Amino acid sequence: MHHRLAAKLVTACALSLAFLWSAPAMAQGTEPVCNKCHEENNDSIKSTGHGAGNDANGKACQSCHGDATEHVASRGKKPVVGDKQAKGNTGAQKSEACMSCHAGNRQLGFWEAGKHAQNDVSCSSCHNIHGKVKNPIAQPYSTTSRTIEADTCGTCHKQVRNATMKPSHHPILEGKVKCSDCHNPHGALTQAMVKHESVNQQCFSCHADKRGPFMFGHPPVEENCLSCHTPHGSSHGKLLNEKVPNLCQDCHVQGRHPTAFYGQNQAWIGANGQPVTTPSTRFISRSCLNCHNSIHGSNAPTNRGRYLIR
Ligand code: HEC
Ligand code: HEC
Ligand code: HEC
Ligand code: HEC
Ligand code: HEC
Ligand code: HEC
Ligand code: HEC
Ligand code: HEC
Ligand code: HEC
Ligand code: HEC
Repeated sequence: MHHRLAAKLVTACALSLAFLWSAPAMAQGTEPVCNKCHEENNDSIKSTGHGAGNDANGKACQSCHGDATEHVASRGKKPVVGDKQAKGNTGAQKSEACMSCHAGNRQLGFWEAGKHAQNDVSCSSCHNIHGKVKNPIAQPYSTTSRTIEADTCGTCHKQVRNATMKPSHHPILEGKVKCSDCHNPHGALTQAMVKHESVNQQCFSCHADKRGPFMFGHPPVEENCLSCHTPHGSSHGKLLNEKVPNLCQDCHVQGRHPTAFYGQNQAWIGANGQPVTTPSTRFISRSCLNCHNSIHGSNAPTNRGRYLIR
C-alpha cells in the first residue's frame, strides 16, 4: 500500500516536473527568434498552415525567405542572404520557394505553362501571405488579399472588370460567381486558361439545360456559346454580343422569310414618313425571338422544332 502511494506520488511529481520543464521549451518552439523584431510578420502567419511548422530558428520563415542565419547573428544588420521574396526579384524567383512545397498540388500542375508564370506574375501577386488578418481563428489565412476574389484579379484585368459592371453580367461583383469558377489562375493548357476542356463544357458545368441533346439543334450553339454570348459582361441583354435581330443577321441574310428589313412599311417609319402603326413583328419587342424562342435547340415536333419554335 505505502509503496504504491509513494510510487504514485513520485510519478505525479515527475510528471508535473516534466511539464514545468517542458512548458517554456514549448513556448520557445512556437515563437521564432524572428518574432523579436518582426512581430507583425509572425502574427500574420502563426495560426495558419504556414506558421504551424515554425520553430525557434524560424524554419518556416526561412523556407519562404531563405537562409537567415547571418541576418539573425548580426541582429538584422546583414540582410537575409538572397531573400527570395525581395521586391526586385523576378516572379519566377519568388514563386520557386512556394513551389518547393506546393508543386504537388493538382491545381498547380500547369503553373509553368500558364499565362501568369510566363508574364512575371508571382504567387504573391494574388496571395497575401502577411495580409492583415483580423480574426485569425475564423479566417486562418486569406487566399486572396480581399474578400471578393474578382477585386484581386481586377487590379490587373481592368477591361474584364469593366465588363463585369455592364448591365448584363455574370454575378461576379455580387460574389455569386468567381473568376476561378471558369478560369484556373494557376495555369491551364486551354484557351484563356479556362478550367474545362472547351468553352461549351465550361458553360455546361452550370447551364446544363443548354447541353441538350435536342431533337433540333442550332449549329452555332453546339459549336461555341461565344458565337452569340460574351462571358464577362455586355450592354445587351442576356450577355449577347449584339442585339437581336443584328445578332441573327450576322449569319442569316435570307430565308423563307427575309431576315432583314423588308421595305419601309414593315419598319418603324412607313413609306409616308410617318411611324407605322403595325411595325413588323420581326423588329418589335423581342424581334426574331418573338417566334424563334427555342434558340438553343428545340424538342417540339416537326416544323416548329426545326425552326426553333417551341
Ligand atoms: C534583432 C532583430 C532582428 C531579428 C531577430 C530578425 N530580423 Fe529580419 N530584419 C531586421 C531589420 C532591422 C530589418 C530591416 C533591414 C533593412 O531594412 O535593411 C530586417 C529585414 C528582414 C527582411 C526583409 C529583407 C529585405 O530584403 O527587405 C526579412 C525577409 C527578414 N528580416 C527576415 C527575418 C527572419 C526570417 C528572421 C528570423 C529567422 C529575422 N528576420 C530575424 C531585424 C531582425
Ligand atoms: C509562405 C511564405 C512566407 C512565410 C512562411 C513567411 N513569409 Fe515573410 N514574406 C513572404 C512574401 C511573399 C513577402 C513579400 C511581401 C508580400 O507579398 O506579402 C514577405 C515579406 C516579408 C518581409 C518584408 C517586409 C514586409 O512586411 O513586406 C519580412 C520582414 C518578412 N516577410 C518576415 C517574415 C518572418 C519573420 C516570417 C516568419 C515569422 C515570415 N516572413 C514568413 C512570404 C513568407
Ligand atoms: C514549407 C512549406 C511551404 C512553403 C514554402 C509554402 N507553403 Fe503554402 N502552405 C503550406 C502548408 C503546410 C499549408 C497548409 C496546408 C494546406 O492547406 O495545404 C499551406 C497553405 C497555403 C495556402 C492556402 C491553401 C488553402 O487551402 O486555402 C496558400 C494559398 C498557400 N499556402 C500559398 C503559398 C505561397 C504563395 C507560398 C510562397 C510565397 C507558399 N504557400 C509557401 C506549406 C508551404
Ligand atoms: C492570378 C492569381 C493567383 C496566382 C498568381 C496564384 N494563385 Fe493560388 N489561388 C488563387 C485563387 C483565386 C485561389 C482560390 C481558388 C478557389 O477558390 O477555388 C487559389 C488557391 C490556391 C491554393 C489552394 C488550392 C487548393 O488545393 O484548394 C494554393 C495552395 C495556392 N493557390 C498556391 C499558389 C501558389 C504556390 C502559387 C504560385 C506558384 C499561386 N497560388 C499563384 C489565385 C492565384
Ligand atoms: C462564366 C465563366 C467566366 C467567368 C466567371 C470569368 N471568365 Fe474570363 N473568360 C471566360 C471565357 C470563356 C473566356 C474566353 C474568351 C475567348 O475565348 O474569347 C474568358 C477570357 C478571359 C480573359 C482573356 C482576355 C479576354 O478578355 O478575352 C481574361 C484575362 C479573363 N477571362 C479574366 C477573367 C477575370 C479576371 C474574371 C473575373 C472578374 C473572369 N475572367 C471571369 C469565362 C469566364
Ligand atoms: C499582378 C497582375 C495580375 C493579377 C492580380 C491577375 N492577373 Fe491574370 N494575367 C496577368 C497577365 C500579365 C497576364 C498575361 C497577359 C494577358 O493575357 O493579359 C494574365 C493572363 C490571364 C489570363 C489568360 C488570358 C489569355 O488571353 O489567355 C486569364 C484567364 C487570367 N489572367 C485570369 C486571372 C484571374 C482569374 C485572376 C484573379 C484570380 C488574375 N488573372 C489575376 C496579370 C494578372
Ligand atoms: C459557375 C457557374 C456558371 C458558369 C460556368 C457559367 N455561368 Fe452563366 N450564369 C451563371 C449564373 C449564376 C447566372 C445568373 C443567373 C440568374 O441571375 O438567375 C448566369 C447567367 C447567364 C446568362 C444570362 C445573363 C443575364 O443577363 O440574364 C447567360 C447568357 C449566361 N449565363 C451564359 C453563360 C455562358 C455563355 C457561359 C460559358 C462561357 C456561362 N454562362 C458559364 C452561372 C454560370
Ligand atoms: C445563336 C446564338 C446563341 C448561341 C450560340 C447561344 N445562345 Fe444563349 N442565348 C441566345 C439568345 C438570343 C438568348 C436570349 C433568349 C431570350 O431572351 O429568350 C440567350 C439566352 C441565354 C441564357 C439566359 C436565358 C436562358 O435561356 O436561360 C443562357 C443561360 C444562355 N443563353 C446560355 C447559353 C449557352 C450555355 C450557350 C452554349 C451552349 C449558348 N447560350 C449559346 C443566343 C445564343
Ligand atoms: C454564328 C452564326 C449564327 C447565328 C449568330 C445565328 N444562327 Fe441560326 N443557324 C445557323 C446555322 C449554321 C444554322 C443551320 C442552317 C441549316 O441547317 O441550313 C441555323 C439555323 C437556324 C434556324 C433553323 C433553320 C432551318 O432551316 O432549319 C433558325 C430558325 C435560326 N437559325 C434562327 C436564328 C435566330 C433567330 C438567330 C438570332 C437569335 C440565329 N439563328 C443566330 C447559324 C447562326
Ligand atoms: C412572326 C414570327 C417570326 C418572326 C418574328 C421571325 N420568324 Fe423566322 N421563321 C418563322 C417561321 C414560322 C418560320 C418557318 C418557315 C416558314 O414557315 O416560312 C421561320 C423560318 C426562319 C428561318 C429558316 C428559313 C429557311 O429558309 O429555312 C430562319 C433562318 C429564320 N426564320 C430567321 C429569323 C430571323 C433572323 C428573324 C429576325 C429577324 C426571324 N426569323 C423572325 C417565324 C418568324
